[in-house]
Amino acid sequence: MDYHDANRLAWDASEPYHREAVFERVLHELKTPGLSCLDEYALAVFEKLKVEGKSVAQLCCNNGRETMSLIKLGASRGVGFDISETFIQQGRELVEKSGISCELRACDVANIGLEFQEQFDIVYVSVGAVGWFQDLTPFFGKVAELLKPGGQLFVYEQHPFQEMLDLKASVEAPRLTCDYFKSDPYRDTGGLDYYSGKFYDSPPAYWFVHTFATILQTIIDQGMTITQVEEFEHDISNNWPELAAAELKIPLCFQLVAKKL
Ligand SMILES: C[S@@+](CC[C@H](N)C(=O)[O-])C[C@H]1O[C@@H](n2cnc3c(N)ncnc32)[C@H](O)[C@@H]1O
Repeated sequence: MDYHDANRLAWDASEPYHREAVFERVLHELKTPGLSCLDEYALAVFEKLKVEGKSVAQLCCNNGRETMSLIKLGASRGVGFDISETFIQQGRELVEKSGISCELRACDVANIGLEFQEQFDIVYVSVGAVGWFQDLTPFFGKVAELLKPGGQLFVYEQHPFQEMLDLKASVEAPRLTCDYFKSDPYRDTGGLDYYSGKFYDSPPAYWFVHTFATILQTIIDQGMTITQVEEFEHDISNNWPELAAAELKIPLCFQLVAKKL
């Protein structure tokens, strides 16, 4: 099973739905001085990382809205990589219409070329990225390859705990329905339009759950030192707005910073 190829087809198919739901809003955020596509939690970390004048790569950048936001914050170079040709095309349209200079590459993370080796001060990985990879070793290996010595990885991702929850769970009594240590992927044919939440017939997408320990240990094994890690109760996936507001608090996302030795 070629999961990457299957996921590429599913992401390509979702592009018109995402475009309809958010293209204009994203363009507005990119064009308006002082606005950004990064939330306050991501901005706080980038402030500490001092993004100004730094070269930044984003893996699984989708339409590159966050990579472009980093250029707005003063990054000297921003390169976004994504397997979906249609989203990279959408991103290039955003680049053209916003006037923000940013390189977008249609490329599987696994195939990012050696010309990018040790080119970046910061590699950014954000919401909805790590689960597309069955094995995180080559994924974080690629991060380590892209970083300059002393460069930093910033991960801002959905918390693996939320993968255990039944999507139709009630806010009062969220039900745990999935194995935290699940090794086979979720298969989803309901579509990937996480902005409007619309369901449609989609080519199948395959998503792997990685435990929190697996994520941390794989980063450590790739020669990076974790310098900051924090779990949060707010929702960055658009899947759990009600749970995020519920009284019973569940870890819905996390941030992690690691430094390449
Ligand atoms: C949920 S989106 C990321 C959204 C992004 N963090 C944002 O907030 O704009 C996940 C992206 O991962 C990309 N992707 C999935 N598998 C990939 C792979 N093997 N290599 C590169 N990109 C991949 C998809 O095409 C999709 O655009």
